[in-house]
Amino acid sequence: MEQKNIPQADIQRFKQLNFQSFQDLAQDPNLSPYQKIGFPNAYREGKERAIFEDILAKMSNLQLPNINVLDIGCGCSDLVQIITQHCAEKSQFLLLNDGKAMLDLIPNPAQGAKVAGYFPQQTADILNPYQNQIEVIITYSVFHYVFEEGNIYNFLDNCVNLLAPQGQLLIGDIPNVSKRKRFFASEAGIKYHQNYTQTDTFPPAFSYEIAPDQIDDGVLFGIIQRYRNAGCEAYILPQRADLPMSNRREDILIVKN
Ligand SMILES: C[S@@+](CC[C@H](N)C(=O)[O-])C[C@H]1O[C@@H](n2cnc3c(N)ncnc32)[C@H](O)[C@@H]1O
Repeated sequence: MEQKNIPQADIQRFKQLNFQSFQDLAQDPNLSPYQKIGFPNAYREGKERAIFEDILAKMSNLQLPNINVLDIGCGCSDLVQIITQHCAEKSQFLLLNDGKAMLDLIPNPAQGAKVAGYFPQQTADILNPYQNQIEVIITYSVFHYVFEEGNIYNFLDNCVNLLAPQGQLLIGDIPNVSKRKRFFASEAGIKYHQNYTQTDTFPPAFSYEIAPDQIDDGVLFGIIQRYRNAGCEAYILPQRADLPMSNRREDILIVKN
């Protein structure tokens, strides 16, 4: 697990991001590709191959040739380029979705298209014809922005409607404040905090107040129940231990029956 001190400028810059501010970051020539997608370099530089390997291990459909793949909120760093290369090697049809400014920074897929706009409201015209036809949907490190800015069930219902039978949706890299609290209450979490702050203090005590902008176990379990009730299989999955935020983030896999 990584522990790096984050530059103050990045802390300010990435404090409160939304779809529009990501497009502003995308157009800032002074930022690295990792900063343009809202991460300090230390969290992503050299790590995105491992992130892709973790995605690949969770999504067996990615091994199939000639399928349809959709990446929602694809960003502009190495991860989307690795996904694009993988899809080309497998002759997969790839739809890349994000804001136009972000999409302008990445190559076109060998087969497929870029779909600019906020999913699902601004992409319905182009994506609705793919209902029940997409074997792989990846939305990595996007869901917490939808949680703050949009309607998570509208977002996820639209994803599930696009899935083909046996299609797989990975909602990746979800920050879970309940997991974070459990970690910082543990011996490993205390050591992590002391190393990070370079002090011998303890992590701050946590409260039971509702945090309106934070995803917790209740949100994740609610998602599992909603899509199981809708006839899908749904699982909460841990991230590979060497991923930069595996101590406080996890993934959800939804599979359409
Ligand atoms: C933290 S970045 C992650 C980028 C990429 N998935 C990755 O992990 O490398 C979040 C991205 O999601 C995009 N995004 C946020 N909400 C979105 C939505 N509703 N529809 C499409 N893109 C969205 C942002 O513009 C941003 O590029």
